[in-house]
Amino acid sequence: MTTVLPTPVPPATGAPARELSDRWGRVADDLRISLIDKCNLRCTYCMPAEGMTWLKKDALLTADEAVRIADIGVRVFGVRDVRFTGGEPLVRRDLADIIAGFRSLHPDVPVSLTTNGINLDKRVDELVAAGLTRVNVSLDTVDREVFARVTRRDRLPQVIRGLAAAKAAGLDPVKVNAVLMRGVNDTGAADLLAWCLERGYQLRFIEQMPLDADHNWARRNLVSGAEVRGRLSERFDLTPDPAPRGSAPAQLWEVREKTTAGQDAPVLGKVGVIASVTESFCASCSRTRVTADGRVRSCLFSRQETDLLSVMRSGASDREIAEVWAGAMRLKPRAYGSDGVTLDDPGYVQPERTMSAIGG
Ligand code: GTP
Ligand code: 5AD
Ligand code: SF4
Repeated sequence: MTTVLPTPVPPATGAPARELSDRWGRVADDLRISLIDKCNLRCTYCMPAEGMTWLKKDALLTADEAVRIADIGVRVFGVRDVRFTGGEPLVRRDLADIIAGFRSLHPDVPVSLTTNGINLDKRVDELVAAGLTRVNVSLDTVDREVFARVTRRDRLPQVIRGLAAAKAAGLDPVKVNAVLMRGVNDTGAADLLAWCLERGYQLRFIEQMPLDADHNWARRNLVSGAEVRGRLSERFDLTPDPAPRGSAPAQLWEVREKTTAGQDAPVLGKVGVIASVTESFCASCSRTRVTADGRVRSCLFSRQETDLLSVMRSGASDREIAEVWAGAMRLKPRAYGSDGVTLDDPGYVQPERTMSAIGG
């Protein structure tokens, strides 16, 4: 069971927290707010085929509550990036209002979206007008049959239209997230990269994490970042991106055509590898997450949450809300699990929430 922590006490000094720091010296300035747990796909590495129970509407953050949380994050804690996720955030009809509400308060803070791309073509202009700065679209294959198998829905054309519309609307970069599964879409990695390069999308391969509803994750099926690089290198030359990585989960590689001229060939684009399992980046994690029902998760793999929404709905001031949030982040684990347990350790216990309910 997910533990909902009691409201943490403020730090001993009594001084209001000014940053979301933890006991391991990290400071979170990258906020991810899930706006809804529902989704119109059923990716096998995320959701079950059926039988999800959804949060009731009144348990979800309202548009004003989502904006207030993001505002506190920026004003009090110096959050520098806000990302809205889901489930599928485009399922929220008031998404543009949320983006516009936040941007009217903080026009200099970028707002991005992680989406499956369905209906993005119909919504993107409205979202960009509201202040959306960037978009990451999940796409694991460009083979329609494989797509239908992975997502349990035959909707590849809609995603492709969504991606094209994001680019046409001037969003830059347009990032594509792909999760590879052995025996399902792993052999299509280089084709997917070629497809993204041709269209100017920045592809990132994400190692599958044990956050699936079906609890089918197995280490032996993991397509590791090293394996992905190996597969891509059969067709392309990859060299490490010279730009510093910072706290970004993706390690970037410059991609060139494979020629005897080697590095003299022009750079076709970049590809990212998010090796969350085999090359974990917990030590530089800068994230703080709030779920669609307003709970702070200090880590993707947390089994503890802090209920910020109830505090907010009880009439708390911004400062009081901020103190609860800061207290939750102080308890952030050093790495996965509570004690640096690796994801393939038999002692690892998967959190109750699936990726769809956390928001990635
Ligand atoms: P940008 O690179 O800034 O566009 O953002 P991002 O990569 O954080 O955004 P996105 O939502 O596309 O995240 C991609 C995936 O990276 C997530 O779905 C996760 O699988 C993984 N990821 C992101 N943050 C973390 C994290 O804190 N821990 C781990 N283990 N994985 C993460
Ligand atoms: N492991 C890794 N990534 C996942 N995503 C969803 N479930 C998993 C998982 N179990 C990715 C999606 C999307 C982002 C929000 O998280 O592909 O891009
Ligand atoms: Fe929906 Fe994203 Fe989960 Fe796929 S990975 S089911 S698109 S929330």
